[in-house]
Amino acid sequence: MPQRPYVIDQMISAKAIAARIEELAREIEAEFEGTDKLVVIGLLRGSFVFIADLVREMQLPVEVDFIEASSYGDGTVSSKEVRILKDLRGEIQGRDVLVVEDIVDTGFTLHHVIHMLSARKPARLKTIALLDKPLRREVNFKADWIGFEIPDEFVVGYGIDFAQRNRDLPFIGKVRFTD
Ligand code: IMP
Ligand code: MG
Repeated sequence: MPQRPYVIDQMISAKAIAARIEELAREIEAEFEGTDKLVVIGLLRGSFVFIADLVREMQLPVEVDFIEASSYGDGTVSSKEVRILKDLRGEIQGRDVLVVEDIVDTGFTLHHVIHMLSARKPARLKTIALLDKPLRREVNFKADWIGFEIPDEFVVGYGIDFAQRNRDLPFIGKVRFTD
């Protein structure tokens, strides 16, 4: 599929992201203080940069696991039907769990994943999303921690893609079509 031409305008700098992650890590440490059974679960693929920076900032013993839910395909419109493409490798029953997502948009993805994981009876189940687009919400869902609230713009960078491109940008930028 040929791509429409676009440019990327920086919205959140790498420095601002790093500063926010320091704050979030302190709050997460306080919540999970003393735990020796924390598993941090990244939603593939968009959270891979965020989870890497977050777990390195957190002063807690952690295990890391990943889960993959179906996403947008190659478009910019969300789908309501969430499918699990890759499940966790480990068990979470009785564990402290932190689910790490890149963006909460309509809310369908995290809502579904949390519902599924809570059925496995973790001791605690918390969620963090780097970005939140509250204006787009279609299901009642709120992450326990949010990095930044953003307007209804399609964004890329810091792990987040547009048709699999731009995940490697160190900052968050918004896509602006030029045609
Ligand atoms: P939701 O199920 O609508 O909340 O969608 C969340 C998922 O959609 C996120 O994990 C992202 O992968 C993707 N997504 C939502 N907004 C954007 C965006 O602006 N750029 C890229 N991916 C997005
Ligand atoms: Mg995603």
